[in-house]
Amino acid sequence: MLPLSRLASVLSSNTTATRLSRLPDRLNVQIRTRDMLSWMLCPVAMLGIESCSTTAPVQQYRVTATVQDLMEGIVDPSADALWDSVAFIATESGTEDRRPRTDEQWRAVRTNAIMLVEAANLLSMPGRRVAADKPDSSAPGLGELSHVEMQQRIGLTHDAFVQLARNLQDTALQALAAIDARDAQRLMDAGGAIDEACEACHVTYWYPNQQRPGT
Ligand code: HEC
Repeated sequence: MLPLSRLASVLSSNTTATRLSRLPDRLNVQIRTRDMLSWMLCPVAMLGIESCSTTAPVQQYRVTATVQDLMEGIVDPSADALWDSVAFIATESGTEDRRPRTDEQWRAVRTNAIMLVEAANLLSMPGRRVAADKPDSSAPGLGELSHVEMQQRIGLTHDAFVQLARNLQDTALQALAAIDARDAQRLMDAGGAIDEACEACHVTYWYPNQQRPGT
């Protein structure tokens, strides 16, 4: 937002007003009346933003990528980076206590946590398609829904889908807090919670008909 004092000077030095003053008087008055009306009806018109001049609602976001794109491009790589950053690995040749140590390593892992936190918002945006319109390149696997079925299910239960994305976001925020505290053990625990949040959405929207042992 512009501070009021600056807004006032922007308005008084308004180039439209200067140009209008050179128009014939009658036209000038008509235009000014129309402008004043739109100013009264639409406060943002004062700032020269044309958002109220059409009746169609302004589209706030342009949703282009599919859920599948986000999974492959952002969600999966950032989660992998978090999971890979901490591990306790015992082999015959010794043990490895893997964890971020340098500032640079912590910064890198932090970026991945941020990507995961924000990816949850991207997933939640209404109007996002599950996959590209082209027919499934391969038949759904055993227990998996087709993309058309997934799309319908997400559309019909969008609030639940958003909640599952929010749950993922909560776990990614736990990872972020652990990273900011430079606490590798907490980061490991957050990794487990992230894994569960991925799975909870996948069993609901991707492979709900999967047979689990004992069921
Ligand atoms: C809010 C729901 C939701 C959450 C949370 C979620 N996913 Fe997904 N994911 C989906 C859906 C729906 C699909 C199926 C779309 C498709 O065919 O790829 C999918 C597909 C995938 C795929 C397959 C992509 C492909 O190539 O088809 C991967 C990999 C994946 N998710 C990883 C993850 C990981 C890792 C997490 C957690 C860090 C996660 N997902 C969390 C909804 C979710």
